[in-house]
Formats: sequence, C-alpha cells, structure tokens
Amino acid sequence: MASPPDTSKTTKLERYNSYLRRINTARLLTLSSQLLFRTTILAALLLILLFTLHHPPLSSFSFSSSPPHSHRSLLSSSSSSSTSSSLSSHSFQRQVLHSATPRNPTGLSVLVTGAAGFVGSHCSLALKKRGDGVLGLDNFNSYYDPSLKRSRQSLLSKHSIFIVDGDINDSSLLKTLFDLTPFTHILHLAAQAGVRYAMRNPQSYISSNIAGFVSLLEVAAKSADPQPSIVWASSSSVYGLNVENPFSELHRTDRPASLYAATKKAGEEIAHTYNHIYGLSITGLRFFTVYGPWGRPDMAYFFFTKSILSGKPITVFKTQDGAGEVARDFTYIDDVVKGCLGALDTAEKSTGSGGKKKGQAQLRIYNLGNTSPVPVGKLVGILEGLLGVKAKKNVVKMPSNGDVPYTHANVSLAEHDFGYRPTTDLAAGLRKFVKWYVQYYGIKNKVHGGVGGGIDVSEVASV
Ligand SMILES: NC(=O)c1ccc[n+]([C@@H]2O[C@H](COP(=O)([O-])OP(=O)(O)OC[C@H]3O[C@@H](n4cnc5c(N)ncnc54)[C@H](O)[C@@H]3O)[C@@H](O)[C@H]2O)c1
Ligand SMILES: *[C@@H]1O[C@H](CO)[C@@H](O)[C@H](O)[C@H]1NC(C)=O
Ligand SMILES: *[C@@H]1O[C@H](CO)[C@@H](O)[C@H](O)[C@H]1NC(C)=O
Repeated sequence: MASPPDTSKTTKLERYNSYLRRINTARLLTLSSQLLFRTTILAALLLILLFTLHHPPLSSFSFSSSPPHSHRSLLSSSSSSSTSSSLSSHSFQRQVLHSATPRNPTGLSVLVTGAAGFVGSHCSLALKKRGDGVLGLDNFNSYYDPSLKRSRQSLLSKHSIFIVDGDINDSSLLKTLFDLTPFTHILHLAAQAGVRYAMRNPQSYISSNIAGFVSLLEVAAKSADPQPSIVWASSSSVYGLNVENPFSELHRTDRPASLYAATKKAGEEIAHTYNHIYGLSITGLRFFTVYGPWGRPDMAYFFFTKSILSGKPITVFKTQDGAGEVARDFTYIDDVVKGCLGALDTAEKSTGSGGKKKGQAQLRIYNLGNTSPVPVGKLVGILEGLLGVKAKKNVVKMPSNGDVPYTHANVSLAEHDFGYRPTTDLAAGLRKFVKWYVQYYGIKNKVHGGVGGGIDVSEVASV
C-alpha cells in the first residue's frame, strides 16, 4: 500500500522553485506578479496540505490498517467472513458432522451457542460425555479476555467438540449449519452478559441478546427441518425490583433494573411469540449467579480472587440504605449443567415445520439457583480462607446502576419437572474454583504469587 506522495510533492516544489528562479532572473516583480506569487504560494500550500491528508505518513498508515485487538467489534465481521469462505470446504463439513453426530444412537444432536463461554463449555463437555452430539458456535468476542475462551475451546477440541467461529446474528451461517446436520436441540447460551458494561456498550446487548436471538429463532422456525427444541439462558436479573422472597416464576418480572435484564426479559417475550406463531418448543432458564472453574473474569468471585492474591483492595457493596449486605444465591456450575441437561431431556419436540405451526408446543420458564443466598462479605471470608491471604476491603454503598441487592431462588418448579436439586454449597464450590484458578494462572506461592496470564479485569462488579 506504499504511495508516492513524497515524489509528487518534491516535483511540485521543484517546479515551484524553478518558477521562482525564473521570475527572480527576469526581475519582473511588478504588482501583478506579486499577486501571482502570493496566489501560487497559497495554491502550493493547499496542494501539500491535501496530499498530507490523503496520504498520512507510512508509520501511522499501517497502524490504522490493523486496529488493536481490543477494539474488535462484538459482532465481528472478520470472523464470520473467514468462516463463510471455508463453509463449503470438505474439512469444515466433516468437522461439523463429526462433532454434531451423537455417539449414542438415541442421543441428542445439540447446537450449543456460546460454547466457548463459561456455562457453554461445561454443558458441551457434559453432553459429549454422555454420548450426545455437540456443535459449538461462538464469536470469541473480547468482552473479557478471549484467550480464556480459546483455552476452553482447546479443552473442548480434546473431547472432539468443534466450535464454529461465527455470530448468532449470521443467518446464512446458521442455515448452512442446519442444512449440514439436523440438530434435535439448540442450547442457546450466547449473549452479552454483565450488568454495568451496558452503560459503556448498550448496543452490544441489543445485537446479541435481541437481534441475535431473533436470527436464531427465525432459522429454527423456518429453515431447520425438523424444527429443533430450544433451551436458552434467561437470567435471575429479570426479577429486577421484585421484593417477594424467594423469587418464584410466578412473581413480577416487569421492572428490570438494567439494560441487560431488559434484554433477557425481552427474550422471554420473544420466545413466547415464536412458540405461539411457529410451534417452537422453548424453555427459558433463569440462572442465579453461576460460578466455578473456567468462570467469567468479570464476576466478583473471580476478580476478588485476583485482587486478594495480588494485595489490591477490593470493593464490597452494602445496600443503598446502608443497613444490609448485598447477597447472592451463588449457584455452582455443575448444578447449573445438570439443570440444563434436565431441561433438554424433558423438552418436547417442536410442532411446526417450514414456518407453519401444526399444533400447540411447549413453552417453559424455570429458576436455576442454589436456594441459599450468601452475603458478599461471607464470600470474601471464604476466599480469604482458601487463599490464605487477608483481603483489603473497601465497603461502599452499591451504585443504583443495575445490580439488585439480593437474589434468592425458589427452584421447586425445576425440581418437580426434571429433578433439579443443587448439591454444592459456596465453600465447596469456591474450593474447586480456587484450585482451578491457581493452576490455570500458574500461581506458585499462594501468599506472595502475582497473578499471571494477562487477565484484565476492569469491571467494578458484576453479579
Ligand atoms: N454466569 C452467570 O452467572 C449467568 C447468570 C444469569 C444468566 N447467564 C446467562 O447464561 C449464558 C451464559 O453465560 P456465561 O456466564 O457462560 O457467559 P460467557 O460470556 O462466558 O459466555 C457467552 C459466550 O457467548 C459468546 N457470544 C456472545 N455474543 C455472541 C454472538 N453474538 N454470537 C456468537 N457468540 C456470542 C461469547 O463469546 C461467550 O463465549 C448467557 O446467556 C448469560 O446471559 C449467566
Ligand atoms: C443482524 O443481521 C441482519 C441481517 O442478517 C442485519 O441487517 C443486522 O444489522 C444485524 N444486526 C446487528 C445488530 O448486527
Ligand atoms: C415456591 O414456589 C412454589 C410454586 O412454584 C410454591 O408452591 C411454593 O410455596 C414456593 N415456596 C416458597 C418457600 O415460597
């Protein structure tokens, strides 16, 4: 891309200089030539300016042609275009089929969106382990350290699970995947998560949680043959300003406290529409603060661990009135995985085909929590014990910009319908998390070890 602005610039300057010499030797500095002189200087300066604007110096040009990775768009077009160029290749098709075909002849064939994510990677492994076929789809966006997503991908690939690098809003990619293999189920976990990040990047929530979800449902309703059954992740955040306890599926969910919650609530309403019009079988799962090994670096338990190990102070929230402590119904990943598999196994078939409903289809919504809220102060206490380091605590009032003070799940509906019963308490689950954390980030000395691995946690809190 080298351009010759310098050469033409010098040519113009030389021409201009010789012009100056000519008028000097002729000594024709009359009033009119002075005017011409000034106009020419002005014109030459303008020309030089124009050239500089259109052809910036080579160094800054090559910089701007390769934007830094962190600025990568959340709906990356580069990843989907690289995927689509290889979509028709035999090796791509073989990988998809090999990954999606169940080992067990009565097994499911599941498209897992967000498979490189925290919950998605765990669910993919659990499904594969019991003989189901699994194909992953993830855009590996940089909302948090993509290298963690790539590590989860490597782990899945060791278990013969292939993750397609693409976006859920890419309808033609989705159609291609459904043409290649008739998935019986979609486990839809891809989303823009996090509560406070919505103030910095609101559109990412609309793109993934609304536009992306609709693209997926469109393909499932109209192109997929047969229509798959869909299980997807909503969130406990839909309870918003609800104060009835414990949260039941019968409670109000029309007062979201964050844009994230609003897009999850919108997803529940959109699910109702696609179930009603097209006969899609859809199950929404309201997860309550999921934690564990391979977890999300933007969540409190994760970045508290990082800060405590490196001696940095942590910010612990108390409620707005200052009287109470913020508490969460922390749910261990293995319990959530069992809930997801239970929902998949009890999902009825969709009833429509080719965009036409043939009869009533199943529409469900379930809480998946732990049923025992723990104050964040106690979470810190458990971490201090496990890490052998005292935390430097900074207690402040929780800003009223998204998070709710308290969550507590009533899971009797999930227990009744598919035997969901959480079995891991916070101390046991955090022990497993910390064990993974120190191993993954290569922390040798538990007390003085610096946290390696280049994780970048800039969020204040997200639960
Ligand atoms: N972890 C929790 O505590 C929790 C609580 C409530 C709800 N949820 C929901 O559960 C689901 C899984 O959460 P998680 O904790 O595993 O989050 P995660 O961020 O680790 O996983 C989501 C994955 O989806 C991918 N993704 C995002 N947008 C995409 C798009 N447009 N196209 C393709 N891939 C995309 C991301 O790259 C990521 O790997 C999400 O829907 C989340 O909103 C999680
Ligand atoms: C989603 O895809 C559609 C076309 O398939 C496009 O028009 C739309 O802009 C996309 N939305 C986002 C948020 O990227
Ligand atoms: C939990 O919800 C069920 C309905 O799903 C209800 O019958 C039960 O009373 C609730 N339990 C509590 C403790 O509120």
